[in-house]
Amino acid sequence: MEKPATEVIKGDGWGRFPDDLEYHSGFGNHFESEAIAGSLPRGQNSPLICPFGLYAEQISGTSFTSPRKLSQRSWFYRIKPSVTHEPFWPREPSHKKLVSEFDGSNTVANPTQLRWKPVDIPDSPTDFIDGLYTICGAGSSFLRHGFAIHMYTANKSMDNCAFCNADGDFLVVPQQGRLWITTECGRLQVSPGEIVVLPQGFRFVVDLPDGPSRGYVAEVFGTHFQLPDLGPIGANGLAASRDFLAPTAWFEDCPRPGFTIIQKFGGELFNARQDFSPFNVVAWHGNYVPYKYDLSKFCPYNTVLIDHGDPSINTVLTAPTDKPGVALLDFVIFPPRWLVAEHTFRPPYYHRNCMSEFMGLIYGGYEAKADGFLPGGASLHSCMTPHGPDTKTYEVIILSTTLGSQVNFHYAIFVLRVV
Ligand SMILES: [Fe+2]
Repeated sequence: MEKPATEVIKGDGWGRFPDDLEYHSGFGNHFESEAIAGSLPRGQNSPLICPFGLYAEQISGTSFTSPRKLSQRSWFYRIKPSVTHEPFWPREPSHKKLVSEFDGSNTVANPTQLRWKPVDIPDSPTDFIDGLYTICGAGSSFLRHGFAIHMYTANKSMDNCAFCNADGDFLVVPQQGRLWITTECGRLQVSPGEIVVLPQGFRFVVDLPDGPSRGYVAEVFGTHFQLPDLGPIGANGLAASRDFLAPTAWFEDCPRPGFTIIQKFGGELFNARQDFSPFNVVAWHGNYVPYKYDLSKFCPYNTVLIDHGDPSINTVLTAPTDKPGVALLDFVIFPPRWLVAEHTFRPPYYHRNCMSEFMGLIYGGYEAKADGFLPGGASLHSCMTPHGPDTKTYEVIILSTTLGSQVNFHYAIFVLRVV
């Protein structure tokens, strides 16, 4: 049957993001969003003829048969289906700085404590994709179990192309420069101090309204981030569901000659051409969506009498494994907060973990390192490698007689991975 002609419907154009972008609030919700009233089909997902002649298309983030509480999928209603693109070809020149299969052939492992100074932002034109590089990781995107830690330094917006990560979910932590991210579900503005999760398979563009930009990316293979259980803390605290924001439907309807979809698959990049924008979703519904979170809304819990809590108390999001209580990757922050305790060494205690720990600094200073750990820098403490406060911090702290101190203006990301 011949499909009815698409009615002429126009988006409001790409370009500058409005200051008052609207979002849907909630974590894991089943949202409904439509940029034009009446464009979302009612009563079924795939009607014979969709409103305005749109095409129905499902994106699944979990297997069709996953338990309902884990199932994630969304339905898009778009002007043209995603399938109408030319074949994928290996991108030339190849990227060479991305890894998603970690084995002895492409990585070197040494348990020594590592720390990196902030990497300079390049002078030559570099967008988010070209500026992305892998620091460390484990496992395999093809085997659907593992993670990668990347960083990016970039100075220009992506131009006439969109990125699609077939390997896993990106959790992006901008450290310098805002990100204007256009996705198939709509647009998100993400500032330093916020994070954004871009799930596997979504097509997105990163614009850099502030020019020179830098940040961290945690990628997980084969699972998705979820909120940690709160246990004895109770029903409230840490990151609240209501503070997670998903985009609202936004689309453009104009030719995009030579538009390129850049797909990351097995850590390699592949290009496919199409003549239209992938951001042509007029309406959508579902629970598989990009989302952002403002870290200043995190409600920390802490010691009020003695000793220093384990860092898991500051978990914002966790990517679980099949073992209860064992994460593939935790995203943890050390936000501004009071540290109150009696006769207690208040910085993080000296320790060795069965987890590997990658850490970055968004701004301020980290309480366990008096010197040398700068915003935009990073550290890696691999599993069972001893680490803890430096000597200067130790000496200052043991002479301290105060009962409390306020830790101000620092945000560290701290990710853990089970061996
Ligand atoms: Fe540690």
